[in-house]
Amino acid sequence: MAANKLVFRKTIIAGTGLFLCLFLIVHLSANWILLLPEETARELYNSYATTLRENLFIKSISYILYAFIVLHVIYALLITIHNRKAKPQKYVVNHFLQNSTWTSQNMGLIGTMILLFIVVHLANFWARVKLGMGEIIELDATGNLDVYKVTFSLFHNIYYVIFYTVLMIPLGLHLNHGLKSAFKTLGFYHKKGLRISAKVSLIYAVIISIGFGVIPFFVYLK
Ligand code: HEM
Repeated sequence: MAANKLVFRKTIIAGTGLFLCLFLIVHLSANWILLLPEETARELYNSYATTLRENLFIKSISYILYAFIVLHVIYALLITIHNRKAKPQKYVVNHFLQNSTWTSQNMGLIGTMILLFIVVHLANFWARVKLGMGEIIELDATGNLDVYKVTFSLFHNIYYVIFYTVLMIPLGLHLNHGLKSAFKTLGFYHKKGLRISAKVSLIYAVIISIGFGVIPFFVYLK
């Protein structure tokens, strides 16, 4: 593949990936509302969900978000297919204990697990809340859709608690490796830059994966 085509593809993956990373910070902060005491959590979470559905600016950002998820997946697939064709021998000498190498060589597998998570997750929440599919969602005392109740019911099913928690492991691995790669693609090449970007990526990945991973358990125990 021509070098500039590869650079273009990597830049699309890096740019869309960084936007998705910002989304995850906002999404995690909002979902931490679920850890508050019941009454406060229900009111805050439901009014936040109503704002997401009704605010025009947020709605337009969410269309950019959907487009970026699709672009990120398509270009990641193209690069994975290209890499497989280009260096098949690498996969034979792969050593499981070299974790960063294992992660980087299995970004396709890890990405697929995250895609599975996102499909199930969107069916659980987005399709119900935004598209009105499935069981009708009741209103809370202030007249907002009771999205808190949807979350509460889902996380009182232990299988979903396990699913949501376990799938945060590939998400954390993906974010750690993906963020480091994005920084490199966008020009953090020199030694100090690489060291800082490795630290930032690790801290970010740990906060996001553990941050999301604990929510289902807390809600289950409520
Ligand atoms: C405990 C974990 C999580 C909970 C409770 C949760 C909850 C929700 C809820 C209630 C919605 C629909 C309403 C809304 O937009 O707020 C939603 C949408 C969404 N979630 Fe999550 N989420 C969690 C984790 C994640 C993770 C880890 C990802 C990505 C890897 C993710 C990606 C998305 C996306 C892309 C949407 C659609 C956003 C939109 O339409 O604007 N969520 N989530």
